Amino acid sequence: MTDLILARAFHVLGVVIWIGGVAMVTMVVLPAARRGELGPARLAVFEAIERPFGWIARLAVIVVGLTGLHMLHRLGALDRFRDPAFWWMHAMVFVWVVFALLLFVLEPLVLHKRLHLWGARDPDAALRALQTGHWILLTLSLVTILAPFREVKAGRSSEAAGHAPSYFAALRRRAIGGAGAPQGVSRETPPVHARGRAAHWAGRAENLARSALCRPRSGA
Ligand code: HEM
Repeated sequence: MTDLILARAFHVLGVVIWIGGVAMVTMVVLPAARRGELGPARLAVFEAIERPFGWIARLAVIVVGLTGLHMLHRLGALDRFRDPAFWWMHAMVFVWVVFALLLFVLEPLVLHKRLHLWGARDPDAALRALQTGHWILLTLSLVTILAPFREVKAGRSSEAAGHAPSYFAALRRRAIGGAGAPQGVSRETPPVHARGRAAHWAGRAENLARSALCRPRSGA
């Protein structure tokens, strides 16, 4: 259980640093460059700001990917990819693949050189295109980030439709004791077909939470 909590914490931390940086570049640095506030060599100044962030983003992408895969494995959540209610899981992987391709392949091999040439010819057009690209990536990322939290808050979505609940949604409901909080689930989770998928997933979350919350602390 500790590894799940740590994985989730580092997953979200990675997302905060990575997408937070993208938001900063999109909403602050690029508009300033386009307004001419970074001086005459604005494209070079922009690159000097974004280059070090590129390495931070690459590290964050690796951390988010590894922790995401670890949670997938530990939650046994691979079958979510067959359920359209979990479109945000597909979105997470999609956003990850797009950024990984951009940061590890396209930027070093193609985009960097092209941007230089384009910037020397027409810096306004190059910056405009950069900003549009950044807005598209940021919007995709924010929709992906908001989706699972909206599911937890609204309490409708997949569970109401009889699908598997978000692991953290089930844990949260158990903690606040809201309607639908899983009750009396044994440590042995019966097979999915016997209990229905929603109950199966709630039971899994309950078991994980119970083993973490009720385990006697050594030395206590
Ligand atoms: C290979 C890529 C990724 C994988 C395999 C992955 C997998 C996961 C898994 C299994 C969870 C736990 C979900 C749950 O049961 O509630 C999770 C949570 C989360 N992921 Fe990802 N993820 C990936 C990339 C991303 C990206 C790119 C973002 C942001 C744009 C993101 C944002 C989040 C957020 C905000 C949560 C917390 C959800 C909650 O607390 O309910 N993930 N991810």
